[in-house]
Amino acid sequence: MRNSTVFDCTLIEMDKHHSDDKGNITVVENSKTIPFQVKRTYYLYDVPGGGSRGSHAHKELQQLIVAASGCFDVTLDDGNVKRTFTLNRPYQGLLIVPGIWRDLNNFSSGSVCLVLASERYDEADYIRDYDEYMIYKENE
Ligand code: TYD
Repeated sequence: MRNSTVFDCTLIEMDKHHSDDKGNITVVENSKTIPFQVKRTYYLYDVPGGGSRGSHAHKELQQLIVAASGCFDVTLDDGNVKRTFTLNRPYQGLLIVPGIWRDLNNFSSGSVCLVLASERYDEADYIRDYDEYMIYKENE
């Protein structure tokens, strides 16, 4: 999506289903919690403390990013505006629409970044070069 903006991306607050004796459980359901069908799940872990990931955009992929443990920052960039979200609660998920550049920074050591994705892995869906991304966004 060439004309998407960072304001199309939202922090979703999910239910903790808190229990004093058993702890918490948070549920993500297709087309209910998130506006897409999950086709792939992956997680980043053992990222060195202070480390970074990401630095790319996707043409079609939608994602929900959750700090399942620990914390990290996600900076979204639509080529015009940047927004940074600190993810540090397992019951919050950052919904990223297609066509948004993202940088994940400041990983706390031992953190786990859980990603729910709308499509299977496809390298052709990535834009990994920022100049190429700017050209992609300008050609809308
Ligand atoms: P990449 O998406 O660049 O990771 P990050 O944005 O977190 O730095 O992927 C890193 C490597 O993992 C890359 O070689 C492709 C591979 N990979 C898969 O094979 N399947 C997947 O679903 C993902 C997300 C990555």
